[in-house]
This record gives sequence, structure tokens and C-alpha cells, in this order.
Amino acid sequence: MTSRGWIGLNSSWEQAFILEALSDLPLEEIVILSVVSSTNDIARRRLAVRAPVLVLAESQTRGRGKDARRWESPPGGLWFSLGLRESVGGLSLVPILTGVAVAEGLRSMGFDVWVKWPNDVLIDDKKVAGILVEAEARGDRRDVVIGIGVNVNISVGELQTKVKENKVGSLSEIAGHPVPRIEVLSHILRRFFHLWPLWRSGQTDSVVQRWKELSRSLNREVTVSSNWRRGQVVGVAVDLAPDGALLIRDAEGLVQRVVDGQIS
Ligand code: BTN
Repeated sequence: MTSRGWIGLNSSWEQAFILEALSDLPLEEIVILSVVSSTNDIARRRLAVRAPVLVLAESQTRGRGKDARRWESPPGGLWFSLGLRESVGGLSLVPILTGVAVAEGLRSMGFDVWVKWPNDVLIDDKKVAGILVEAEARGDRRDVVIGIGVNVNISVGELQTKVKENKVGSLSEIAGHPVPRIEVLSHILRRFFHLWPLWRSGQTDSVVQRWKELSRSLNREVTVSSNWRRGQVVGVAVDLAPDGALLIRDAEGLVQRVVDGQIS
């Protein structure tokens, strides 16, 4: 590794601990901020300078979720983005791989974590973490930003998104005590950088297999509202394809591929 850049602004994060906890990871820059619009936006900008970059923030004012939904990001949560420069194509497995990394990272801390297609992370069927992958072509390379939000020490009842309150959880409420965010971050990143070379070399069979083992979506009756085709696909989720698509057997017995959408 060459030099490692640090930018820290008024953050309550314990920077020395973060440096120590992440010192052996292949990061060229770590940016720690207090309030940002979205860590994904900062990571995208920093990618012009260095990669891989990690951007952490104490809170986000315009945190983004999938499908342009708002992602509430109050202090106490873990909101971060990884910026990577890649030359290989085919990003469809990146959310799946990241979901496995987050689930396994939290599992190594003792949480009983599962994944829901495409990339929600659940405990007791409550969403505790979400992943937003954004990419941009730059000549022959791609800037890939992987945003991860984990509800660590937050009170779900205080979130403004009340609609899905019983579907959202936080680690501290599940554990019954505060959970060290640096540990959560370190476990997730460690798993991520273990799996990432598999994606780069196209050896993703074991990642797909692991996702299936952790899945709360397979062998269940599902309704997928797709963003790219009108209407819904209803049936039993029978498999995950090697490219990350969900395979659904409908009432007529036809197997349909769904590459994007939400399960309800
Ligand atoms: C989802 O489940 O809809 C994805 C949520 C992703 C949230 C994270 S928090 C860090 C990063 N910055 C953002 O604006 N979004 C992601």
C-alpha cells in the first residue's frame, strides 16, 4: 500500500481506533466526516483522486436508498461507502456479494443474520442494513461506489419512516445494549475484502452458494415488483442465477428471471 489519506472534519468518530482497526485493509484513503449529504456522493468524488476509498459519516442529510427512496441516517448508525476503480464489467453480482459480506460480518459478531433478495440484510425478518451500488463509466474503467447503511445504535421508533416500523430493526435494540460501530465496520470490511478478489477473478460460485445458504427469499412464495418491467412477478423463488437474478416459478410452472425489484 502507498500512502493513506485522512480527512476528518468535526467527527465524533474515534479516528485512532478506526485507523488501528482498519490498518491491514487495502484502503488508500479513509474519509471521516460528521454530516454529509450522502457518503456515496463523497466516495464518487474522491475516486477521481484515489482508490480504494472509504467514506464514513456520523449522519447523512440526503441518504439514498434503492429506487431513489430516502434512507434515514441519524447519528448512531453506521453509514459508509466504498469507492473502487474496476476494469471488469458485469456488476450484477456486486450487491449480492456485498450482502454476503455484511451478513457474514455481523454473524461473526454473534448476530443471527439473513439476506433477502436482492441485498437486504435481516435479523428476525427486520431489515437492519441496506446496500446501494452505483457505478459510472470513466473511459475504460468503472468507478464503483458501494454504499452500506447499518442501523447500529439507533432507536427505530424515532425514525420518521413509520410505515415500515415493524419491518426495520437496529443492532442495539436487538442486542439490548449499544454495539461498537468500529467493530461492525471492521468485520464487514474484512469479509468484503476477502470476497472481492473472487468477483474480480470471476470466481463467484462460492459467493452465490453462500448467498443461497443465507437466503430468506428462496423456496418462498414471493411477489416481486420490478422497476424495469411493468407489473409484478408472483410465484415461488426457486433459485439464484449465477449473475444474481432471482428465478421465480410462476403459477403456470414457467421460470422467470428477475434482475431488479423488491420482494413483498
Ligand atoms: C436500501 O436498502 O435501500 C439501500 C440503503 C443504502 C444506504 C447507504 S448509507 C451509506 C450510503 N450512502 C447513501 O446515501 N446510501 C448508502
